[in-house]
Amino acid sequence: MPGTRPGMTNREVIMRFAVSIALAAALLAASPAVAQTFAPAEERQEDYPEGAGREQTFYACIACHGFKIVAQQGQTRQQWGDTLDWMTQKHGMPPIDGDLRKTVLDYLETAFPPRTAPGGWKNPFGGR
Ligand code: HEC
Repeated sequence: MPGTRPGMTNREVIMRFAVSIALAAALLAASPAVAQTFAPAEERQEDYPEGAGREQTFYACIACHGFKIVAQQGQTRQQWGDTLDWMTQKHGMPPIDGDLRKTVLDYLETAFPPRTAPGGWKNPFGGR
C-alpha cells in the first residue's frame, strides 16, 4: 500500500488514511467559502434609484467594480463627467460618448446629486 512503511501497524495505516480523508473533506468544505470571497457581490440594478438610464449606467460600471462605489458618491453633472473621463483615462474604461454619455450623465446627475443639506452643512455638535 502506498504511504505505508514496513513495520507500520494496521492501526497506524488506518489512522493515516483517516487523516487524509479528514483533510480532503476540510478542503472541500472550505472551497465554497473561497469562491464566495472572490465572486463579485450580488448586485441588482433594482437596488438603486429608479430612473431613465439606470440599466445602461449600471452595466457600464459594474464591468469593473460594484455599483455601490458609484452610488455612494454625490456629484454635479460636471463632476460625473469628470469621473467618466477619469475612468477612461486612468482605468481603461471604453469611452462613453454621444447619446450613451447623455443617458448615463442624466441618470447619475438625477440619482446621485451632491448631498448638501438645505442651508448647508450643520455641525452636529451645535457649533455655528
Ligand atoms: C475599466 C474599468 C472601469 C469601469 C468600466 C468603470 N470604472 Fe470606476 N473605477 C475603476 C477603478 C480601477 C477604480 C478604483 C480607482 C481608484 O480608487 O483609484 C474605480 C473607482 C471608481 C469610483 C470611486 C472613486 C473614489 O473616490 O473612491 C467611482 C465613483 C467610479 N469608479 C465611477 C465609475 C462609473 C460611474 C462608472 C460607469 C459609468 C465606472 N466607474 C466604470 C475602473 C472602472
